[in-house]
Amino acid sequence: MKKIEAIIRQEKLSDLQAALFEQAGVKGMTVTQVLGYGHQLGWKEYVRGQEVLTTLLPKLEVNMVVADDKLETVITIIINSCQTGEVGDGKIFVYDVENAIRIRTSETGEKAL
Ligand SMILES: Nc1ncnc2c1ncn2[C@@H]1O[C@H](COP(=O)(O)OP(=O)(O)OP(=O)(O)O)[C@@H](O)[C@H]1O
Ligand SMILES: [Mg+2]
Repeated sequence: MKKIEAIIRQEKLSDLQAALFEQAGVKGMTVTQVLGYGHQLGWKEYVRGQEVLTTLLPKLEVNMVVADDKLETVITIIINSCQTGEVGDGKIFVYDVENAIRIRTSETGEKAL
């Protein structure tokens, strides 16, 4: 299993959620409101004449744990749903997951997803 952490533009979430459900059968996700910056260091702002370089911009962090054989499909869906081609489209990080457990039934591994 893999954990996919995608930092995306807020306005892309509903399209992404629909595409993940319809095209990849993703049945669980966690979404968190986050603040961050990338290469452009957010927006430059001037506070009392001083340039502020690292303005943090609001983004959404979408977390999903998926079976290994869904990883590439899910990454493609995220790119297709969230890419505008402008700076700030976000980033995807992929992690190995050791186990998953559904608390209600004690099922483990992919059965718990
Ligand atoms: N190396 C990183 N580690 C953790 N979070 C990151 C990293 N890079 C970007 N992010 C997160 O992703 C958000 C969007 O990043 P962004 O798309 O601007 O990346 P970028 O590398 O600057 O690419 P681009 O040039 O396309 O803007 C940031 O606001 C931040 O929350
Ligand atoms: Mg950027």
